[in-house]
Amino acid sequence: MDKLKMQSPNLVDANIDKIAELFPNCITEDRDDNGVLRRVVDFDLLRQELSASLVEGPRERYTLTWPGKNEAILTANAPIAKTLRPCEEESVDFATTRNLFIEGDNLEVLKLLQETYLGKVKLIYIDPPYNTGNDFIYEDDFSEDTETFLRRSNQKDETGNRLVANTEANGRFHSDWLTMIYPRLKLARNLLREDGAIFVSIGEVEVANLRKLCDQIFGEQNYVSTMIWEKADSPRNSAKQFSEDHDFILVYGKNAEWIPNRLPRTEEANSIYSNPDKDPMGEWLPGDPYANKPYTKGLYSITGPTGRTFSPPPGRFWRISEEKLRELDSQNRIWWGPTGNARPSIKRYLSEVGNLVPRTLWKKEEVGSNRTSKNEIRSLFPNEESFDTPKPTKLIERMLRLATDSKGDDIVLDFFSGSATTGHAVMQINAEDGGNRQFIMVQLPEAYEEKSEAYKAGYKTIAEIGKERIRRAGKKIKEELGEKANSLDTGFRVFKVDTSNLKDVYYAPDELKQGQLDMFADHIKPDRRPEDLLFQVFLDWGLDLTLPIAKETIDGKTVFFVDSNALLACFDKGINEELVKKLAKRQPLRAVFRDDAFGNDSVKINIEQIFKLLSPHTEVKAI
Ligand SMILES: C[S@@+](CC[C@H](N)C(=O)[O-])C[C@H]1O[C@@H](n2cnc3c(N)ncnc32)[C@H](O)[C@@H]1O
Repeated sequence: MDKLKMQSPNLVDANIDKIAELFPNCITEDRDDNGVLRRVVDFDLLRQELSASLVEGPRERYTLTWPGKNEAILTANAPIAKTLRPCEEESVDFATTRNLFIEGDNLEVLKLLQETYLGKVKLIYIDPPYNTGNDFIYEDDFSEDTETFLRRSNQKDETGNRLVANTEANGRFHSDWLTMIYPRLKLARNLLREDGAIFVSIGEVEVANLRKLCDQIFGEQNYVSTMIWEKADSPRNSAKQFSEDHDFILVYGKNAEWIPNRLPRTEEANSIYSNPDKDPMGEWLPGDPYANKPYTKGLYSITGPTGRTFSPPPGRFWRISEEKLRELDSQNRIWWGPTGNARPSIKRYLSEVGNLVPRTLWKKEEVGSNRTSKNEIRSLFPNEESFDTPKPTKLIERMLRLATDSKGDDIVLDFFSGSATTGHAVMQINAEDGGNRQFIMVQLPEAYEEKSEAYKAGYKTIAEIGKERIRRAGKKIKEELGEKANSLDTGFRVFKVDTSNLKDVYYAPDELKQGQLDMFADHIKPDRRPEDLLFQVFLDWGLDLTLPIAKETIDGKTVFFVDSNALLACFDKGINEELVKKLAKRQPLRAVFRDDAFGNDSVKINIEQIFKLLSPHTEVKAI
C-alpha cells in the first residue's frame, strides 16, 4: 500500500518536470550521495539546446540581485515537514464555511497550500511590511533547530519569537527584505489562476525593488500598472522633505491578457452629463466629431440648421461618414449648440455608456484613507487600541471589484492579513452583490507587547485580532442585511501551522537505531487527534480544506467521509477485513488508514485486494 508523503512538495521536482516537458532529452539519471537513483537534468545537453542564447560566468547581464538571493531561491524550493491543525473552537460555522483563517508563518503556509490551491486563486492581495525600519521581518531558517538558530543570530525577543527588526543599521537593509519577500511571491505565483492577478501594497522605500523583483517572478510582460492610493487626509508637517501622501499598489496578471473589470458608475462620473435640449433619451455628453487618423470618407463639408457649413480643422478628419452623420442628425443625436450655429457634436447618452474604466489614481473620497481604516477598526473594537496599520475595506473592495466576479466562487488570498481587512471586504462585497467569493487569510501569531493596549484587552497576538475582527464584522454585516443574510458566508475554518503529526524519527528511517524501534511502532505523535491526521491527508492529496466532513461510527471505529465520497479516512487501530469490506462498498474515490491499523499483516496485504474487488477506482493509501 502506498504511503502518503506527509510533507510539502519539493518544488525542485516540479521544476524538473517543467524542463522535461520542453526538453525530454535533457532529463537523465544518476546516483545521489547515498547511492539512490534519481532524476537529474543533463545541463551540458540543455546548454547545447540553448547555445546561442546563453549567458554564463562573469559576463554582464541585466538582473536584480542581492546578497542572499541564492538562499532565497533554495528557501522557496525546500520542502517542509509541517502540517495544518484544525481549530474548531476558534472557527465560525466550521462545518459549512468556505473561508479559511490560517495562523502561521506565510512561507510555511504557502508551501503547505501548494498542492491544494495550485492554479486556483483568482486574486492575491498582500500588504507586506514596507521595510520602514520599524516593521518586523521574519527570519527564515529551516535547516537549523530554533535554539541553534537563536544562539547563532542572537535575535530572540522576550516571547522567544524569531523576529528581527530590519533597521538601516544592519547594513543589509534592502537585501533582508528582498530575501524575505522573494520566496513568498515565488510560491504565491504558483497559486494564481490563469485568469488571476496579484495586487501588492508598498511604500516608497521598496517600490523600486518590488517592481524589479515582480518583473522577475511574474514576468515583465505581465506587469499591468501601479496604482497610487491617496492614504493621507492631511499633510504631515513634520516631514523633512515631502509629506508622503500616497502608497503604491503594484498589479500583475498571471498572464498578459488579464483585464480588470470596469467599475460601477459613480455619481461624480455621471454628474458631467446634462440635458440642455430636453432630449427624451435623457442626459448626454457632447462627443468630438473629429478624429486624428484619416478616415476614407473623412473629408467632406456639412451644412448645419442655420446654413453654416463645417469642415474638420486642418490635419483632422470627420469621425464618421457623411451618411452616418446625417442619419444621426435625423435621430436628434447631433448637437449644433444652443442656437444651432455651432460645429456638430455627437451625443453620448448616459443610458448608453457602460461602466467606468478603472483609473490609476485612487482617491481617498472613493476608497478611504488611513483615517477611514483607523475609524473602521475603532468602530469594531470601541474599547481597545487594537491594530496600527489597517487598510480601508473600501480600498480592498475596489480590488475585489476589479479582479473577481460576483458570479462563481472566486478564491481571494491575503497572506499578510494583519487585522483581516481583506476577509471583512470579501464578506462586505458578497453582501452587496450576492457573490460567493471565498477568502484565505494567513497571519503570523505575532505577539503583542505586554504593555500594549491590545494585550491588556486580552489579545496575545495579531492573529487573534484578525479572527475577532472577522467574527465582529460578519455579525455586523448580517445584522445590517436582515433576511438576505441567510446565504451569506461569514464563517471561517481556523488552522494553525504545526510540526508534522508523524514523529520526527519517521522521516529518517536510515538513521534508526535498534533501541528506537519501539518508538517507530507508533509513528504518530501522542497529542495528535484524528482530525489533525485528516487535514494532513487533505494537504497531501491536494483536497480543498473547506470540503464538508461527516463522521460515522462503524463497527465501533470512527470513519470520516469527506464531501460524501471524495475521501474516506479511518485512523483507528485494530481494523479487520469485515470493516474494510463495509467501507469499500461505499466506493470512495480515496481511502486512507493508519499504517499500523490492521490486526495483523495478512489483513494489511488483503486490504488492497478487497478494494480492488469491491471498489476498483478507489486509491488506497496509508499514513
Ligand atoms: C502591514 S500589515 C497588514 C495589514 C492588513 N492589510 C490590514 O488591513 O490589517 C502586515 C502584517 O503581516 C504580518 N506578517 C509579517 N510577516 C509575516 C509572515 N512571515 N507570515 C505571516 N504574516 C506576517 C504582520 O504581523 C502584519 O500584521
